[in-house]
Amino acid sequence: MSVFIIFVAYMLQEQEVHAAEMERTFIAIKPDGVQRGLISEIISRFERKGFKLVAIKLVVPSKEFAQKHYDDLKERPFFNGLCEFLSSGPVLAMVWEGEGVIKYGRKLIGATDPQKSEPGTIRGDLAVVVGRNIIHGSDGPETAKHEINLWFKPQELVNYTSNAEKWVYGNN
Ligand code: RTP
Ligand code: MG
Repeated sequence: MSVFIIFVAYMLQEQEVHAAEMERTFIAIKPDGVQRGLISEIISRFERKGFKLVAIKLVVPSKEFAQKHYDDLKERPFFNGLCEFLSSGPVLAMVWEGEGVIKYGRKLIGATDPQKSEPGTIRGDLAVVVGRNIIHGSDGPETAKHEINLWFKPQELVNYTSNAEKWVYGNN
């Protein structure tokens, strides 16, 4: 009996260790990616990696909303065109969860300019110019928190245990 309790306590502790390391990031497929039929291609790359989808919705953001999203770029010459473009059609807004998902999500996405993105990355494989680079990903923990709160209400984020988690995570 006591061995069983120790075992259960150990398992719970393991779960907590992983829960503590989980991060969330905001990922959006921009209007060009949606219109080009790349939703399933992009989602499958995050899904196959082992990351977990915790929120998703298709929205046409207003220009004011796009300006809020790209607020840190407001001094750049392309800011107006960028916000016009983001608000020009449906955007697939998502939150993905996993260990290191913020930084690794950016790796999956590739460099901002698709001319410089490595082959094998989303932008490297699927985009050609910086003005139509099909996807957005949060660039750090603070930005991720801010963008998730901007795009989603707390009740739109789903907490669940993925069946795959016990195979995706583990220590030997
Ligand atoms: P994102 O925020 O969309 O994930 O892209 P990023 O971090 O890789 O790049 P960032 O510097 O945040 O730029 C945001 C978006 O602005 C557009 N952009 N256009 N020279 C240009 O015309 C130019 N530079 C950036 C891109 O759509 C970029 O994703
Ligand atoms: Mg950025």
